[in-house]
Amino acid sequence: MEITWLGHGTFQMVLPGGETLIFDPWTQGNPLYPAGHEIKGCDAILVSHGHFDHIHDAVGLAKQWKPKVVGIYETCHWLESKAVANCCPMNKGGSQKIGSVTVTMTHAVHSCGITDDDGSIVYGGEAAGYVIKLDDGRTIYFSGDTNVFSDMALIAEIYKPDLAFLPIGDLYTMSPREAAVACRLLKVPTVIPMHFGTFPGLTGRPEQLQKLASDTKIWELTPGKLVNW
Ligand code: NI
Ligand code: MN
Repeated sequence: MEITWLGHGTFQMVLPGGETLIFDPWTQGNPLYPAGHEIKGCDAILVSHGHFDHIHDAVGLAKQWKPKVVGIYETCHWLESKAVANCCPMNKGGSQKIGSVTVTMTHAVHSCGITDDDGSIVYGGEAAGYVIKLDDGRTIYFSGDTNVFSDMALIAEIYKPDLAFLPIGDLYTMSPREAAVACRLLKVPTVIPMHFGTFPGLTGRPEQLQKLASDTKIWELTPGKLVNW
């Protein structure tokens, strides 16, 4: 599959069969969004939680491409109120087939208010993560924004992820100190760090995590540069 980091917590994944998944779409105004990168299709959007830096362009992309839109129940309810079609609401521990992959929603330790058009904050349910099982048997864990939590050991036990996406920036999520413990609890061989460097306050860096998590391969991506996995 082809993975392209679009900066911050936003990723584009093109599966071997050609389906495009977009995680936590923030394109307009994302300081790390790769200039000139064009989203040329979208079969599914997965939203981890309702903060603007994860949901900002979900409505626009959904209207443009008519993908399935996966989120926790209350966030999907808000998206539907914005006339987003094809929402696939779910909650933690549940799984559903989205195209060729099976998506399971997991816990996250974070908040989930959605800033509405008038500036008020709407209840968006809870922040979540996703386990994605590909049809070739490989498994990805996309944590969304979160601190480390001891139940990551359950994610390791139940889903055995081969690749994890973890925030490391600090301030709004865990920093490399906590992410190193997450690597250990998840027993995951490879981690793609995210949610760092976007703003001055997001100070965590992949090399700091690599020093603390020597048994894990920390795979730093460059925004806009496609990698194969
Ligand atoms: Ni957040
Ligand atoms: Mn965030």
